Amino acid sequence: MDTRPIGIFDSGLGGLTAVRALIQAAPWESFVYLGDTKNAPYGDKTPRELVELARRNIRFLRAKGVKALLVACNTSTATAMDSMRGENPDLPVIGVIEPAAAAAVSVTETGRIGVMATAATVHSGAYERAIRRLSRSAEVTAVACPKLVPLVEQGCTDPDDPALRDAVQAYAAPLLAAGTDTVVLGCTHYPIVRRAIRACLGPDTALIDSGAASVGALLKALETRDAAADMTAAGSRRFYCSAGRERFVAVGSAFLGWDMDGQTELAAL
Ligand code: DGL
Repeated sequence: MDTRPIGIFDSGLGGLTAVRALIQAAPWESFVYLGDTKNAPYGDKTPRELVELARRNIRFLRAKGVKALLVACNTSTATAMDSMRGENPDLPVIGVIEPAAAAAVSVTETGRIGVMATAATVHSGAYERAIRRLSRSAEVTAVACPKLVPLVEQGCTDPDDPALRDAVQAYAAPLLAAGTDTVVLGCTHYPIVRRAIRACLGPDTALIDSGAASVGALLKALETRDAAADMTAAGSRRFYCSAGRERFVAVGSAFLGWDMDGQTELAAL
């Protein structure tokens, strides 16, 4: 048993989609969450910049005494996973792409899988590789959706908001044209605007939540190392963001369904 917290990071609010799934699956686990809101969005940064930001985020979380790292950011997973694992050999480092790819392959009936993600994730080709490793016949259509993270970070999550609706409609068009039956929300921010995405892709498309998909892999890694927490006690929850604390708390609280104010601090990174 290990009651130390799990360290979780993202560029901002997106990783809360993984947090929500973690709380549902294992409320006894403690965590420290870092949203690097000062540097969001990550999706238009270079791989070199993303490696540097991941290194700094992990340094911050390690100083909190974490027992594992959940990289609740597809962009960091796609571009910095090798260096994160190489530099932290003593900790399990779990990303979001492999679990989401596995979920998509198990759900698709036609083998036509769509991926909505940031520009950096799409350019990395990480989803195509992860999906093809599991299913050589899968046809992957990946669409970069650069407008979505800034909209979510601004709190623009109402599916009827014209800016959000127009952006999602444009991104959904190539996925509909390709006949995808399964779409990976390959950025952890996107489940926060799931209703807008669902409205454009229709009721029959399976949507894979990459943050939620990663939680199973995380809990399995803890179990393998005999590092799960005491299941009889509730875990502690701490949130940090690197800028815009008020908005982070407002949008995050609306998404998680409780007031995060007393649990959230500004991180001096
Ligand atoms: N939520 C992150 C991801 O999964 C980061 C997106 C961004 O900041 O552009 O890719």
